[in-house]
Parts: sequence; C-alpha cells; structure tokens
Amino acid sequence: MKVIIAKSYEEMSRLAAEEIAKVVNEKPNAVIGLATGGTPVGMYKELIDMYKEKKVDFSQVTSVNLDEYVGLSGDHNQSYRYFMNSNFFDHVNIRKDHTFVPNGLAKDINAEGAEYDKKIEALGGIDVQLVGIGSNGHIGFNEPGEELDLGTHLTNLTESTIEANARFFASKDEVPTQAVTMGLGGIMKAKKILLIANGAEKAEAINKVINGKITTQIPASMVQMHRDVVVVIDEAAASKLENLK
Ligand code: F6R
Repeated sequence: MKVIIAKSYEEMSRLAAEEIAKVVNEKPNAVIGLATGGTPVGMYKELIDMYKEKKVDFSQVTSVNLDEYVGLSGDHNQSYRYFMNSNFFDHVNIRKDHTFVPNGLAKDINAEGAEYDKKIEALGGIDVQLVGIGSNGHIGFNEPGEELDLGTHLTNLTESTIEANARFFASKDEVPTQAVTMGLGGIMKAKKILLIANGAEKAEAINKVINGKITTQIPASMVQMHRDVVVVIDEAAASKLENLK
C-alpha cells in the first residue's frame, strides 16, 4: 500500500487526478471505476482542467461507478448519475454511452447488479477504481456488518451514512435509505485501487484502514489485501495515523 499525505485538499485532488490520468495515458481505452460524494469533487475539477490542457483524453475511456441511491432517477439532482454528469462527464470528451452507473430504479436490484458485474467483466475489468471512505469505514456503500457482499447488490444505508449525506439534501428525511453498490469482490478485482480522503472526520477510519486488522466492521480495511493500492489523503485525514506501513 502506497500512502501519500497531501498538504491540502487541493493537493490531494491534484495527486489523485494525476493517478487517474496516468492510467488513461498508459491505456487510452481504460475502464475507470468512479465514486461520488464530497471528496472527489476537486479531483474531477483537476481532471477537467487536465483535459482542457490536453494532458488527458477520455474519448476511448469507459467508466463504471460504484453506487447509486435506490429510488432516485438519473435526473434527480442528488442521484449519482446526475452528480457524475454535472461534475465530470459533461465537461470532458468521454462518450456518455460509455459511462455506467448502477440503476437505482431497477425492479430487481440484485439481478441488475449481477448484470452490472458481468458487464464489467465483459469490458475486461476495471483498470483503476477510485474509492472514498465513510467515517464509519464504508467503501462504496458496503456498510460495516457481520458479512460483506461480493457482487453489486442492494444495501440498507446505516444511520451514520444517512446523517453524513443529509448535507446534500433539503432534509435528512429525503435521504434514500437504500442504495445499490458494487460489492467488495467488484472493488477488489480492480487492477488498481485509489483511495482518497480528506478532513479530520475521516482520520480514525483511515488509521484503521492503514494500521488496523482486516474486519468486516471496517469494510475499507479489505483493501489491505490488494496488491496495488494508492491512498491519497490530506493532513487532517492523516492526523490519527499511528504508523505508516
Ligand atoms: C460514493 C461512495 C461513498 C463515499 C463516502 C464518502 O460513491 O461510494 O462510499 O465515497 O461515503 O463520502 P464523502 O466523499 O461525501 O465524504
């Protein structure tokens, strides 16, 4: 695991964008796994700037997103499809028909989740998977629990995730209580994992991911078993690190 501590959110965003651009520059038709939330907004801005400066080209890239809220259509302004279009896809030359986000309106979420995983395999797998982390240690929407799922599946969001995400909605009551998320198997099959985090509220979870035991109670701790992980965090998120492995 390679851990990079950035001086600021801006530096974290730039370094993360450079990691993604490197994969795309080495393999122009790369499959990039993407995430949403507050953390990657700056990284997407950097990638848009790099695209405008002709430092990266997304014309042959395919993207697959980690997750989507259940019950929100792609044009709902809090859906993750909407987030991806407005924060990234609309500003670069990726083909929209090469961008995939799980369908939060599917009748049978688990069946469509299995199709999503097959599609990723048919694409040749994910070259780099970006993941954020919840302060409770979730990645994607794989919440802490007794068991973790391998494939893309329906999941219930925990109270702490609903509370954390309420900041994006008019009120907490509007936050969907369920999501469809790639499972740990899908994330771990990616050839490379890029984990990003900023802010003191992520510091404890980050320390557990880097220095703790592997446990389903901190789903992100599983990435310790992956052979190519880059963690890019700002100083606040690094503030509780006991050791650097
Ligand atoms: C989003 C996702 C989530 C977020 C996590 C952190 O696609 O999969 O795991 O990465 O909840 O969210 P932020 O970045 O808003 O703190």
